[in-house]
Amino acid sequence: EWTMENFIEEQVASIREKVGSGKVLCALSGGVDSSVAAVLVHRAVGEQLTCVYVDHGFMRLNESERIVKTFRDELGMNLIFVEASERFLKKIAGVSDPETKRKSIGNEFIYVFEEEAAKLGQVDFLVQGTLYPDVIESGTSTAETIKTHHNVGGLPEDMKFQLIEPLRTLFKDEVRELGLQLGLPEDVVWRQPFPGPGLAIRCLGAVTKESLDILRHADDIVFQEIKRSGLYRQIWQSFVVLPTTVKSVGVMGDGRTYAYPAVLRAVTSDDAMTADWARLPYELLERISNRIVNEVQGINRVVYDITSKPPGTIEWE
Ligand code: XMP
Repeated sequence: EWTMENFIEEQVASIREKVGSGKVLCALSGGVDSSVAAVLVHRAVGEQLTCVYVDHGFMRLNESERIVKTFRDELGMNLIFVEASERFLKKIAGVSDPETKRKSIGNEFIYVFEEEAAKLGQVDFLVQGTLYPDVIESGTSTAETIKTHHNVGGLPEDMKFQLIEPLRTLFKDEVRELGLQLGLPEDVVWRQPFPGPGLAIRCLGAVTKESLDILRHADDIVFQEIKRSGLYRQIWQSFVVLPTTVKSVGVMGDGRTYAYPAVLRAVTSDDAMTADWARLPYELLERISNRIVNEVQGINRVVYDITSKPPGTIEWE
């Protein structure tokens, strides 16, 4: 009989057998899949697992701190936290082309991850949060299922590990249930998808520390308000895009403002292949707009993206 308890028991046993006394590495991204995979493998091999979390500086407000708190402090896992924000920011300084930006971030991620892996000495296994739909999509051999496209976690081909992919037979909803049973907090298990390059591809054009900070602040207000509205789980993704090449005139108090607009994007979707713009309640839109304009220095206007996918994509870059 297939039950989650049996699944956990079987996986733990088979991971233990496969790993033996070997050393296991996992790149944590903060996303649902890598988090659940890591916790399951930790249940099986404990201290033999080391997780590496690379903070590229493009995460949401307080998110990196939360990841450390959850995995290191609460779950007691070995977690190497790599603070690399300066390095990434320097790497993409002046880069405004979206594909170049993505590639630079992806490549830098690999360098940083490799450096950390090298410090660990002999590593035998690598954990990947591959799900059943990923397996179907990419077909064939295991090695090929390491996503390089669309995923900052894509790893270099010359890293010779054996893969551990304990979620290969599961769908997303099962992964969430598994995560909850393994003691992951709801915040992690129900996290909306977030692109590997993070806020860097939502800061349109060349990214600076200043524009990132403005975006991060506005994004946090949206996060709070969407959570408070109770719609967070129904919405596939909700976030802010900052067009840093656009400024418009506004008025605040006695003065004229000249600042960036914030683009609010919220979509419903089943699999990100297609998406519809979310019909958010007017009151919620109003609250978000008021809060962003009042609280975020540098933004004086909020617009709502009412484009579906296709023809729009979910992200703007
Ligand atoms: P688009 O913008 O193509 O996005 O409609 C589809 C889904 O993929 C996410 N996305 C990414 N995820 N690395 C990722 O891991 C990326 O570079 C990346 N770009 C887009 C996007 O957030 C949406 O869920």
